[in-house]
Amino acid sequence: MRAARITELGRPPETVDVDAPAGGTVVEMEVVSLNPIDLAICAGRFYGGHPEVPFVPGCEGVGRADGGLVYVFGGGLGLQRDGTLAEQVEVPEGASFELPDDVDPALASACGIAGIAGWTPVEVAGVKPDDRVLVLGATGTVGAIALQAAKLRGAARVVAAGRNRERLERAKELGADDVVELGDDMADRFKEAFGGDGPTVVIDPLWGEPVVAAAQAAAPGARTVNIGQSAGGDATFPSAVVRGKQLRIVGHSNFAMTPWDRRRAHLELLKEVQAGRVAIDVERFPLDRVHDAWQAQAEGRKAIVEL
Ligand SMILES: NC(=O)c1ccc[n+]([C@@H]2O[C@H](COP(=O)([O-])OP(=O)(O)OC[C@H]3O[C@@H](n4cnc5c(N)ncnc54)[C@H](OP(=O)(O)O)[C@@H]3O)[C@@H](O)[C@H]2O)c1
Repeated sequence: MRAARITELGRPPETVDVDAPAGGTVVEMEVVSLNPIDLAICAGRFYGGHPEVPFVPGCEGVGRADGGLVYVFGGGLGLQRDGTLAEQVEVPEGASFELPDDVDPALASACGIAGIAGWTPVEVAGVKPDDRVLVLGATGTVGAIALQAAKLRGAARVVAAGRNRERLERAKELGADDVVELGDDMADRFKEAFGGDGPTVVIDPLWGEPVVAAAQAAAPGARTVNIGQSAGGDATFPSAVVRGKQLRIVGHSNFAMTPWDRRRAHLELLKEVQAGRVAIDVERFPLDRVHDAWQAQAEGRKAIVEL
């Protein structure tokens, strides 16, 4: 069967012929969605390590088992053992669940790692109709989902922040009330975007300087949920800002959720996507263009590999 394979850390995968699984529960993969975690694992920069080289990458995907559509994630796939970027995958127990049969497999897959990470923090922050929500990195997949989730929860104002101008325009189409381009004087501009009062909630896949600026702009008692560190692994917060405004900063990790909670969040979001209330922008590539898919994902475009 055909599969993508990493033969050297730091280099994109190649398409190769490998042995099909000899037994176990086998899923015929239809699509695999790529995520920053795949790029980190395959570059040797993920804190959880990587499977022994050479290996098949991919942490999630959608395929068919016994004729039904299933979502595949977990059981060490793509992390400790060969992953999902293959025509057939032997799936460990508990690492798949059934999907409705009428969904687009690509969107159902994108609702997994990225979807849960965009959907759940808005819930964790307890966004309510009187909240003013700043979504950092709203130009990425996680942020774009978070901004739509905040709108669905009826937030009074949602502001999208990011670097990519085209994607900031897209954020407006997705419902952002205003956008802020990251750069100089971020704290002042975040504050202005909320009429001077600052956000009551910050959804943050970036960390680094943007999250510090967001804290400086935030309203008293604001809640920040951190999801990632795309802008940097460190952030220095003045104590006076955190203490003076009694800010709350909590972390979110999909890995820390129970499988049941992940599945609930995944299916909740998928329902919204199917109903047309949440859009997820994806780019589709055939397996023999996995190299291009890898590049697209590295540039922040949500890449889906079709098997
Ligand atoms: N906690 C979890 O369980 C979990 C799950 C999934 C993802 N994540 C993390 O969440 C983050 C976003 O994931 P994603 O799937 O949305 O990735 P993505 O689609 O590739 O988006 C990346 C985002 O990061 C921004 N960015 C990249 N480098 C930046 C920099 N130096 N300064 C400022 N902004 C920068 C991009 O902004 P521009 O495009 O505007 O440049 C874009 O908004 C990643 O860090 C990922 O690892 C965490």
